[in-house]
Amino acid sequence: MTILNDISLRTYNTFGIDAKAKHFVSVENLDDLIKVLKLNEYPDKFILGGGSNMLLTQDLDALVIHLNLKGIEVLSSTNDHVIIEAMAGENWHDLVMWCLDQGFGGVENLSLIPGNVGAAPIQNIGAYGVELKDVFVECQALDMRSKQLKTFLKSDCKFDYRNSIFKNEYKGEYIITSIKLRLTKKDHSISTAYGAIQDELERLGISKPGIRDVSEAVINIRQSKLPDPAEIGNSGSFFKNPIIDLMHFNDLRSNFSDIPSYPVSDDQVKIPAGWLIEKAGFKGKRLGNYGVHKKQALVLVNYDDANGKDIFELSQLIQATIKRIFNINLEAEVNII
Ligand code: EPU
Repeated sequence: MTILNDISLRTYNTFGIDAKAKHFVSVENLDDLIKVLKLNEYPDKFILGGGSNMLLTQDLDALVIHLNLKGIEVLSSTNDHVIIEAMAGENWHDLVMWCLDQGFGGVENLSLIPGNVGAAPIQNIGAYGVELKDVFVECQALDMRSKQLKTFLKSDCKFDYRNSIFKNEYKGEYIITSIKLRLTKKDHSISTAYGAIQDELERLGISKPGIRDVSEAVINIRQSKLPDPAEIGNSGSFFKNPIIDLMHFNDLRSNFSDIPSYPVSDDQVKIPAGWLIEKAGFKGKRLGNYGVHKKQALVLVNYDDANGKDIFELSQLIQATIKRIFNINLEAEVNII
């Protein structure tokens, strides 16, 4: 375990922003993590996982601790189910592929989501009708102050749409070190209600999809409209889909008859932020080396060595414009650092 100085974080964040870490260390086990957290000579510490949900707008004058805890194992198994544990530093998509290789179902709709396992509970990752909480059992997390490990059961995590206790009450207080998932070994519950999946399966000529087929369909859909961070820097959806009152929605519908919505409760609906941003004229807009993705307006992109501050300013301009046109507050999904 070596502490390095003045390290570029460009390859450690999927946006590909060239911010610098004053100090940097990669930890591969819990003991080292605890040791590093106890280093008093570095009072400011910053925990870095897969770097897939953040926008760096400045250099970090801190000790950046890169979580590189690895390992996936089966903890217990019955005829129908299995409980697996994955360490925080595993790549999420690699975990999904491992599950498919073992024939374990439950995470196939979450194929190709960038980032690491440790970040998955923080924002309750979700896609194509499935959220992490649907398979989540518990996670282990290290209390940064006491340096003790604590178990959070699913009910402790207060999962919600792209949200959990780790983004609220316990923000910045715990480091998730591993998660446990309950997956199916047979009679998988195949989730294809999401229209785009049905269309893609049809295109592939599959009428009775298995978990691999669903994964393939999701991968195809994601690749067709979401930019690959290895080619164009991005952090997936930059904003959350806003939830608004039904009255407000009915009002908007009188001006924008094509506004899409998903029911959330009797008096609230969710609006796709991508639609709002497209309607406001930002889709595909390019400002030099950064902009709004051509195929999915919810994704901001770094074409080539963009500055995080510029992307942040673009996000603020989008928020102000959406507020002006629709009177809707768009909330960033990405963490602004
Ligand atoms: N739409 C537009 N223009 C756009 C993009 C979207 O009009 O440029 C409208 C279309 O009407 C479309 C609807 O928005 O039917 C929904 O679009 P899409 O299916 O692409 O999903 P989304 O609501 O934009 C959410 C997640 C994605 C996830 C997809 C699929 C959020 C913030 N985003 O996007 O998650 O992959 O659903 O489940 O909830 C991520 O979090 O990084 C992410 C990519």
